[in-house]
Amino acid sequence: MKVSIAGAGFYGSTLALRVAEAGYADDVVLTDIVEGKPQGLALDLMQSRPLASFETRVTGTNGYDETAGSDVCVITAGVPRKPGMSRMDLLETNARIVSDVTRRLVAASPDAVLIVVSNPLDEMTALAAAVSELPKSRVMGQAGLLDSSRFRHFVAERLGVPAREVKAITLGSHGETMVPVPSLATVGGRPLAEALDDASIAEIVQRTRDGGAEIVALLKTGSAYFAPAAAAETMVRAVAQDTNDVHPVSAWVDGAYGIEGVYVGVPARLGREGVQEVVELDLTSDELAALRTAAEAVRGKQDEVLRL
Ligand code: APR
Repeated sequence: MKVSIAGAGFYGSTLALRVAEAGYADDVVLTDIVEGKPQGLALDLMQSRPLASFETRVTGTNGYDETAGSDVCVITAGVPRKPGMSRMDLLETNARIVSDVTRRLVAASPDAVLIVVSNPLDEMTALAAAVSELPKSRVMGQAGLLDSSRFRHFVAERLGVPAREVKAITLGSHGETMVPVPSLATVGGRPLAEALDDASIAEIVQRTRDGGAEIVALLKTGSAYFAPAAAAETMVRAVAQDTNDVHPVSAWVDGAYGIEGVYVGVPARLGREGVQEVVELDLTSDELAALRTAAEAVRGKQDEVLRL
């Protein structure tokens, strides 16, 4: 099992650490344009092996030869936000980077599953799918797992319960039209609405929507990467281990939920071939309407990015 990660910044290097420590990959390759950075990080990670107890070989490179034959490629290359910026402000810069990186990764690993995490997420995923010319099922983006993890954390913190007891998903875009789905959220198996009043749920939904910006404002020099890398690792694992688990991801939706031909956040069954199916859950009419609104909002931007 070989996993390549383009972009050895905070996100890429944290993801490399999480994948290596999880132990299912034989090889993790980090590639970046900055000379020495991926090599130095790979050496540092390799030197943690005796203590962190993993045997995954981590390699750093400025090229793509070393990524050849990867099973999974993750694109984290690009610039992160600064305070006051929206993810959309990164569009042009990251579109250039993501196109270039996608071409090179796919030339070396034509059979890989591609996972995109660079922002703006839904647009960069659509771009990578177009540039790669891979089947759409083999290209997906990470957003919903992160957004739902944020939602779950806020609920768990509010109620003082273990985070793993809170189950929830978020759909829609990784941005303004994110759709947290409180109707399907549970705490210890019971509906969230039995544990929290509507006003508290609405407050948590809003904090989830603003979750990335809250961290950008605190960090001032970049964006979140610990929870994002945990979310991306969950997707890498689902593909690498062919788990068939259902996770919220940015997937190509063509028919489900009455949505046609767009990358947007939906629950999807993931396995060795990427997205095996988009899963249609019972949403309330408001949630379904919000998901369709999100799909239309990202469609416009996705068309724009493909014209760049
Ligand atoms: N090829 C390879 N690597 C590149 C390229 C390129 N063409 N252009 C930039 N990079 C690398 C940078 O050298 C840097 O090491 O991408 C890395 C980005 O790392 P950071 O600046 O630390 O940003 P990070 O926090 O990792 O976020 C990366 O993920 O969450 C999103 O919005 C975020 O789009 C951003 C991405």
